[in-house]
Amino acid sequence: MKKKVAVVTGANKGIGFAIVKSLCTKFKGDIILTARDEIRGKNAVAKLKELHLNPIFYQLDITDADSICRLKEFLLKVYGGLDILVNNAAIAYKISSDTPDADQAEKTIRVNLFGTLCVCKTLFPILRPHARVVNVSSAAGMLHNIPNEKIREILLSPKLTEQKLCDIMKEFLKDSKAGLKQEKGWASTNYEMSKIGVTALTFLQQKQFEKDSREDIVVNTVHPGYVSTDMTNRKGVLNIEQGAEPIVYAALLPINITSPKGEFIWEDSKVVSWR
Ligand SMILES: NC(=O)c1ccc[n+]([C@@H]2O[C@H](COP(=O)([O-])OP(=O)(O)OC[C@H]3O[C@@H](n4cnc5c(N)ncnc54)[C@H](OP(=O)(O)O)[C@@H]3O)[C@@H](O)[C@H]2O)c1
Repeated sequence: MKKKVAVVTGANKGIGFAIVKSLCTKFKGDIILTARDEIRGKNAVAKLKELHLNPIFYQLDITDADSICRLKEFLLKVYGGLDILVNNAAIAYKISSDTPDADQAEKTIRVNLFGTLCVCKTLFPILRPHARVVNVSSAAGMLHNIPNEKIREILLSPKLTEQKLCDIMKEFLKDSKAGLKQEKGWASTNYEMSKIGVTALTFLQQKQFEKDSREDIVVNTVHPGYVSTDMTNRKGVLNIEQGAEPIVYAALLPINITSPKGEFIWEDSKVVSWR
């Protein structure tokens, strides 16, 4: 039987780095530390090697379909599949950024939601039975951050599909370009919209896994807490190891677990409602 393997996206620093660090001691298999920048990724691996941990570097930009396909081929060739996928990579513009808001919206949704979706679409076919997927969301990804009730209803509808979710996000980008975001009642930040997308996507994905012939594949979404990283200008109250805890918990859920499954997991590893 081939060795088990876990992949963490955006793992050269911050919470992703701490997820890899923790998995290296807790998961019986190889851990692939991925980063979009080869030097930053290899430096991160070197830091962990100093701690006698042994992750493997692989380049992955979640917005680059070729890079995702290369990772898939590598995983298939060396491991024959994938056992844990942690979708951690994301961006958040600084409040001080002078990039026009519509451009920020486009890039934030492209990386955080469409990038994550592309990784999932490419790697889900090689997930093995009992695989665990964790989509890192945020408190920002709670539904109540959208004031418009109709949009909330669409996102809650049992008829929601991935295509419909993408269409809603495109609608948001259109309104963003037209300067109508507030008027139409979208969430007040682009980051919130992207993470609401990631949360909603998770619920849809679990529904798909329920119908999958592969046994016991589980996906959850996690809010790691307010963590001191570059993303939060080091203002977060938790350290990266604490931020990684609920994510690693979700990545290592025992086989045939009945809950949490397709749930929103809070920083204390408890299930919460996303409404
Ligand atoms: N920190 C918090 O308080 C907090 C709270 C709630 C949720 N989160 C979520 O937790 C996750 C980790 O955040 P963090 O605070 O650790 O942020 P961070 O320190 O800024 O790290 C983000 C990571 O994502 C990578 N990344 C960005 N764009 C990428 C792309 N296109 N392809 C591959 N990797 C990419 C970055 O790579 P580079 O180094 O190359 O930029 C970096 O490794 C994110 O999903 C974030 O939204 C964080």
